[in-house]
Amino acid sequence: MSDYARVRDAALADPSAFWLAETSRIDWVTPPTVGIDDSDAPLYRWFPDGWLNTCVNAVDRHVDAGRGDRVAIVYDSPVTGSQRRITYAELLDEVSRFAGVLAHLGVGTGDRVLIYMPMIPEAVVAMLATARLGAVHSVVFGGFAPAELAVRIDDAQPTVVVSASCGIEPSRVIAYKPLLDEALRLATHVPAASVILQRPEAVAAMGERDHDWRELMAHAAPHDAVPVKATDPLYVLYTSGTTGKPKGVVRDNGGHAVAMAWSFDKVYGIGPDDTWWAASDVGWVVGHSYIVYAPLITGATTVLYEGKPVGTPDAGAFWRVVAEHGVAGLFTAPTAIRAIKREDPDGALIGRHDLASLRTLFLAGERLDPDTYHWASERLGVPVVDNWWQTETGWPIAANLRGLEPMPIKPGSPTVAVPGYDVRVVDSRGEDLPAGQDGAIVIRLPLPPGTLPTLWGDDQRYIDGYLSAFPGNYTTGDGGYLDEDGYVYVMGRTDDVINVAGHRLSTGSMEAVVAAHPAVAECAVIGVHDALKGQVPRAFVVLKAGVAADPRDIEVEIVAAVREQIGPVAALKEVVVVPGLPKTRSGKILRRTMRGIADGRPEPVPSTIEDVRVLEAITPLLQSD
Ligand code: COA
Ligand code: AMP
Repeated sequence: MSDYARVRDAALADPSAFWLAETSRIDWVTPPTVGIDDSDAPLYRWFPDGWLNTCVNAVDRHVDAGRGDRVAIVYDSPVTGSQRRITYAELLDEVSRFAGVLAHLGVGTGDRVLIYMPMIPEAVVAMLATARLGAVHSVVFGGFAPAELAVRIDDAQPTVVVSASCGIEPSRVIAYKPLLDEALRLATHVPAASVILQRPEAVAAMGERDHDWRELMAHAAPHDAVPVKATDPLYVLYTSGTTGKPKGVVRDNGGHAVAMAWSFDKVYGIGPDDTWWAASDVGWVVGHSYIVYAPLITGATTVLYEGKPVGTPDAGAFWRVVAEHGVAGLFTAPTAIRAIKREDPDGALIGRHDLASLRTLFLAGERLDPDTYHWASERLGVPVVDNWWQTETGWPIAANLRGLEPMPIKPGSPTVAVPGYDVRVVDSRGEDLPAGQDGAIVIRLPLPPGTLPTLWGDDQRYIDGYLSAFPGNYTTGDGGYLDEDGYVYVMGRTDDVINVAGHRLSTGSMEAVVAAHPAVAECAVIGVHDALKGQVPRAFVVLKAGVAADPRDIEVEIVAAVREQIGPVAALKEVVVVPGLPKTRSGKILRRTMRGIADGRPEPVPSTIEDVRVLEAITPLLQSD
């Protein structure tokens, strides 16, 4: 039997025993004796009698083991022209003192700390300091607008908000503080304090409840780590769902620490002596898991990169970073490779750097199209490894396990189910489908450690949204199929979530903004194919009768409204005025049919369609790139 099959079977046969054996990868205050707690099924908890502190596992224990001089974080920031290397000993000092700052501002175990920061080391320090206190961080991506930030503030109810005066995009400096102030004005909840890191590129005006990061740190007393239960929350990360209200994905402490250590070793094949780079953002799950927690829990060196794949300064930026820091594993989204390929189609810039350290390129966040796969593997000469997962799972569901048993790569597939995940493809009744047949991809319960135990403050939404469509299974929201070798093919979402440049967004929340325009009678926002970003949103709007305004002005206003209310990351740039939307006779907009046409996988037109001519009229607009 292959190593993969042996481990997969062991994890499926007795999940509790399998994962309990893996808990030795972590330092515990009280090691767990119980694996899964299923007393509240379908809600499961991992390691209910274990106690630990995640920050200790990510920082202190490496210093205690004599590895304090090892570089923990390489901060590489072409947008500011600076670099910084932070050892584990230095990280421990900063994190303990910032934990002291937070405690002084009133943060205790279980309290929330909202972090709205660019890609700077202080973002990681704030996350780890929160974890040190047994508090719960919620990092919000910088590309979201104040209204989105306000919704998260009201849901998470943070005691303290940590931010920076600005973020730096290659094209411009973005003042974060005014965005934060506006969000706090919109929110109902009032945090006790804000801590602001002043950056020289845009110094922020400070208000009554604002504190300067450096001033507080200058007088801070280090704070010890507070042990928490394995089942206590480490963080809440909001992600887009079908409706406008984002979902607060909860991550626990114990299961997460085990999953991070296990997956970094077995999936990514990276160890404590390696330098690793996940070119993502701490605001996304990839950033949480593989910029921060997995590399630090492992004791490796993680690269924190503030810049883009292109334009900072050129499309060779990624290869410069790999060569300069000796990166063994690079993880990014296919869209980043497409951006590089567009500017350097022959890969001429790759040849200018010594990439001998690079063992593997990992890609995730969206479907890896075969063209991008072939381009990268031919130009780089290393395995290009797709891996499929989502914010909810926190670590790969399907991958080619580089540290367990590398398998042949089939372009278009992230390879096989990762041990711990019982992946099935089912029809609408929940029956397993044979190899090759398309259906809903589900995971049989229980999910392995590190996956979401629930949604923040809303067990019922978790049950309704994920566990009810196919009882006994977790619904991933993705569709696809398995082949005869058990390879998973993920073809796209089955709901209204879209993936724009590896960023997960809700068309539902965009529709809410578009529909609020006074000239709009009805609308549908659909993800359409884009050569660079994979998908981009396109809004189809029907104007109210008698609207006199120029449709082009309305389009501009709608684009501006989405940017202002959701954020630049929404990237809604196309608004198409149409005479009507395809609907059923009962008035339901046929979004699924529209999506199928946009994806190039048209489905049979429902017999309940009101007027097929409307669909015919809109079809070319759905298909055009
Ligand atoms: N703070 C403020 N604004 C931000 C931001 C942030 N953290 N991140 C993005 N934005 C803004 C951008 O400036 C851009 O604004 P614009 O419309 O004024 O140009 C907008 O949001 C869209 O950003 P993005 O989707 O990143 O598009 P881009 O054209 O700037 O760059 C790529 C395209 C492909 C180069 C870029 O998306 C990329 O590198 N993607 C990598 C994927 C990734 O990291 N995925 C995370 C999961 S692995
Ligand atoms: P996020 O929660 O932002 O990580 O987005 C998760 C979603 O992105 C998944 O549900 C998929 O739709 C998509 N996705 C992520 N990785 C892949 C992949 N390797 N292949 C196909 N789709 C992916």
